[in-house]
Amino acid sequence: MPITTTVITGATSGIGKETAIALAKKDHALYLLVRDTVRGEELKQDIIAITKNKSVYVVHCDLADLESVRNAAGILKSSLLAINVLINNAGGIFNQRSESKDGFEMTFAVNHLGHFLLVQNLLPLLEKGQARIINVSSEAHRMAKPNFNDLQWTKRPYAAWKAYGTAKLFNIYFTRSLALKYGPKGISAFAVHPGLVNTRFGTGLTGIGKTLMWLARPFMISAETGAQTSIYLASASRIDAKSGKYFKNRHPANTSAAATNEVGRDRLWELSMELIAPFLT
Ligand SMILES: NC(=O)c1ccc[n+]([C@@H]2O[C@H](COP(=O)([O-])OP(=O)(O)OC[C@H]3O[C@@H](n4cnc5c(N)ncnc54)[C@H](OP(=O)(O)O)[C@@H]3O)[C@@H](O)[C@H]2O)c1
Repeated sequence: MPITTTVITGATSGIGKETAIALAKKDHALYLLVRDTVRGEELKQDIIAITKNKSVYVVHCDLADLESVRNAAGILKSSLLAINVLINNAGGIFNQRSESKDGFEMTFAVNHLGHFLLVQNLLPLLEKGQARIINVSSEAHRMAKPNFNDLQWTKRPYAAWKAYGTAKLFNIYFTRSLALKYGPKGISAFAVHPGLVNTRFGTGLTGIGKTLMWLARPFMISAETGAQTSIYLASASRIDAKSGKYFKNRHPANTSAAATNEVGRDRLWELSMELIAPFLT
């Protein structure tokens, strides 16, 4: 049986870690894109010990640094002929407005723009592998208030959950754009809501955000359960006809009305292309 080559971001913790372990058990060759390579190597050893699958590789990739993303894509291009699955899982919410190395608002940079560049620079490998791209979004996309004149949150007071919800809406826009633009080349794309999951997500919040996380904690599912839809999309057969859709509990689900806005979707694509242009290979 041909080996499935899978690239995943954000596998050092939570949902990504459980997704990586499950896919290693299914004999995927795994490329772990991590910002902390010491923890990445520890994770690699854990995965090998748990699954006996030795095809696990660590590549440095800080999504808040587009040069690092470009370098990671370059390493993958020099070591691989094809990628079959790309899981854009890394993400987070940030209490205060902060900026990535390139000066982009951090929520936008980590949850959206870094992954956008990663996909662009990996396109030849993704096409060769007839890849599935899985973008880990969230029901928080329903809180989105996209303002394309202020994507960087410099003209209005920063609001952590609104910035996060907007970035997660962008994951859905991105998924639909990928399905439409690259579907004819054999690439499919899916967005995922993993559930309300007990991970490190939100641990840096203070004030009302912290209280909300505390109140939600008893209702949260485990990271292993939260990983199930990503695992399903990475390994199920005959799902390509559902490309472009938003999944919850392994099934296509409705999004907010804003997530179906074609003008916003196209605007995000154009702006993202402009922002990553200096880092394209
Ligand atoms: N937990 C939930 O209830 C929930 C609900 C809906 C959606 N989600 C989404 O699920 C995904 C996974 O989150 P999680 O809950 O598993 O949270 P988590 O435990 O905090 O894991 C987040 C992962 O993202 C990585 N990451 C963060 N910033 C990065 C950067 N600049 N460059 C590279 N990697 C970076 C982290 O790396 P480090 O280990 O180095 O920090 C970690 O591996 C996220 O996209 C999140 O938005 C979560």
